[in-house]
Amino acid sequence: MRELPEVAKMWKKLEPNNSRYDMIKFYMLFRQYFYVYKNREKIIGFVAGSVKSDVRSHLSAIYVKEEFRKKGVGENLLKTLEAAFEKSDFRKITLEVKEDNKEAIEFYKGLGYAFAGKKSRYYGEKDALIYSKELS
Ligand SMILES: CC(C)(COP(=O)(O)OP(=O)(O)OC[C@H]1O[C@@H](n2cnc3c(N)ncnc32)[C@H](O)[C@@H]1OP(=O)(O)O)[C@@H](O)C(=O)NCCC(=O)NCCS
Repeated sequence: MRELPEVAKMWKKLEPNNSRYDMIKFYMLFRQYFYVYKNREKIIGFVAGSVKSDVRSHLSAIYVKEEFRKKGVGENLLKTLEAAFEKSDFRKITLEVKEDNKEAIEFYKGLGYAFAGKKSRYYGEKDALIYSKELS
């Protein structure tokens, strides 16, 4: 995909430890659950989904460039991904979010995600909160 270098930059901004190699691996494995959002031909956000089991899909990454946040881009990306998972008959979508990422937590709650558990020290010192949503 032509857009991969630009997406890889955003991927690294999400987590400093994220490697370009991991992102390419994700893309190769789950290409049908990978979407970018463009504004005037430029990529301003992306979402990457993956598959955990026959019934469980997963949000692996979502990112919107800072200057374009709070304009509905993230919602559009996540709903596009959910629709793709629904089309593939997954029952559920899960995600992990860093415990102190308040913006993202509000974003997920607003889109109907519910707290479903914790993973201790998933991000170095910080815990991950697990959120999930039933798909129709
Ligand atoms: C989380 C993220 C993808 C949201 O994208 P976005 O394009 O800003 O989100 P939207 O504009 O579609 O917001 C949809 C709703 O989510 C909620 N929301 C979004 N950002 C919020 C914030 N900073 N504070 C509170 N609520 C927020 C609001 O309810 C919003 O609806 P509203 O604008 O009508 O009030 C974006 O903030 C981002 O890229 N953050 C950095 C990367 C990141 O943390 N990714 C998640 C890792 S788990």
